[in-house]
Amino acid sequence: MEEYVKKVKETAAFIKKNISEMPVTGLLTGTGLGDSVAGINVLHAFDYKDIPNFPVSTVESHKGKLIFGDISGHRIVAMQGRFHMYEGYSPLEVTFPIRVMQELGVQNLIVTNAAGGLNLSFSPGDIMLIRDHINMSGENPLIGPNVDSWGVRFPDMSAVYDLGLAAIALDAAIKHDLDMFQGVYVGLKGPSLETPAETRFIRMIGADAVGFSTIPEIIVAVHAGMKVLGLSTITNVNDPDHQEKATVEEIIDVAVKAAPKVALIIKHVLETLEL
Ligand code: HPA
Repeated sequence: MEEYVKKVKETAAFIKKNISEMPVTGLLTGTGLGDSVAGINVLHAFDYKDIPNFPVSTVESHKGKLIFGDISGHRIVAMQGRFHMYEGYSPLEVTFPIRVMQELGVQNLIVTNAAGGLNLSFSPGDIMLIRDHINMSGENPLIGPNVDSWGVRFPDMSAVYDLGLAAIALDAAIKHDLDMFQGVYVGLKGPSLETPAETRFIRMIGADAVGFSTIPEIIVAVHAGMKVLGLSTITNVNDPDHQEKATVEEIIDVAVKAAPKVALIIKHVLETLEL
């Protein structure tokens, strides 16, 4: 763990040397949603491969850039492309960038992802505000020695998704006349998609959407004391009684088309946030 902490601090020091103003909010874009950061006034953009100690994204639909800039004057750091456990990254690697953000002083984290819908009132292209989550990955990025300067051993998870940020996101949907659903996200490890029996099971335990990301980063953000907002783009709807084949091409296509809606919500949230 000491080695990991050292690497995080080294990476944060590299970034601090190269940028003039530290970001307040972190933004993590999911599959096909890289363009949800389209409105950023970019000040610095680093390829992941040029950042010391940073993992490198292996999935084509993820761009692999860390962008520093602002949206309407609100300073942000945006990760265009995240790391997944199904790529073979450990939970510590997946959440490395969140620790770097913590070291940079980031206070809010906005996370977007592409997810399968389990709630049959959803349609492809809908946006779901994540109200809560169920971690079914069997992993946890906080396993191992606790770094007390980063957070407590047993972080409270009774209110992971910040109510204030959620309220602003709901206002954004009203302002832009977008339908926005709310629900519970269940995180699996993937990469195989769900069987009908698994879909039935995860619906029964109370999930509205399912995906292979987000939860490790969110757990670390909570540990780090950040306020969290999560937005899922529903790319396909899985009905266990008539389950259709889901292809990654379709998932990406729907996510790319929905990205401008997600961008509008994010922009409104950042404009409304106190600096
Ligand atoms: N299952 C898991 N992850 C996903 C899905 C799905 O159906 N759609 C988009 N991401």
